[in-house]
Amino acid sequence: MKKRPPIITLDGPAGSGKSTTARAVARRLGFRHLDSGALYRALTFALLNSGIKEEEWPDLPKEKLDRFHIWLRPAGPRFEVLLGERVLNDELRTPEVTARVSPLSALPAVREWLLEAQRQAGREGGLVADGRDMGTVVFPEAEVKIYLTADLKERAFRRFLERDEREPSVPELDVESEKIRERDERDSNRVVAPLRKAPGAIEVDTSFLSFQAQVEVIIDHVKTLTER
Ligand code: DC
Repeated sequence: MKKRPPIITLDGPAGSGKSTTARAVARRLGFRHLDSGALYRALTFALLNSGIKEEEWPDLPKEKLDRFHIWLRPAGPRFEVLLGERVLNDELRTPEVTARVSPLSALPAVREWLLEAQRQAGREGGLVADGRDMGTVVFPEAEVKIYLTADLKERAFRRFLERDEREPSVPELDVESEKIRERDERDSNRVVAPLRKAPGAIEVDTSFLSFQAQVEVIIDHVKTLTER
């Protein structure tokens, strides 16, 4: 039987550059990129626009979640995230969504509900998937697992620069660092599928690496681990 192309997982804290790195690695390998955080963001966006009060989110049964038709559609080198027939992009990155996505993603019913769509995306392999639990829960069988980290201040700096298209002042950097630190703490301390380095994952600290260098480091690991 022909072996399917590999799955590569990239997990790590907020602002470690997972999505941009995963996209570049996927492009280099001719694989497809899955940004799993976009699914959690899509549900947050849908709930914010649903009129369902935030206090009720923790008790939403699966049947109610099913009413939001959130799904992944292969589109060239990536998966689009759709809500019904609407392709979601910038609306997933608003401060309102970012502020609420972490508590929502801690809910076991939500994680369970989104699991199948993610696994389906990896069914034929040839996937670079980024998130928090790609290597631990969603694709434990992945051939290559990377845990991407960077110094907190460096991550806050990059996040700010990407979003506001300018460098932050010292107080702005402190505020951004605190937001990221809080989100990491929540993502790492939740009961279900917390952010963890998967067994066998290779840690890549990007604090002092250029973007191009970090992509190369990962490509090297992929080659070493899959061309044996
Ligand atoms: O990677 P991101 O910033 O788009 O992720 C948004 C939130 O979604 C993050 O705070 C935690 C959650 N998330 C998760 O719990 N598991 C994933 N695999 C991906 C994201």
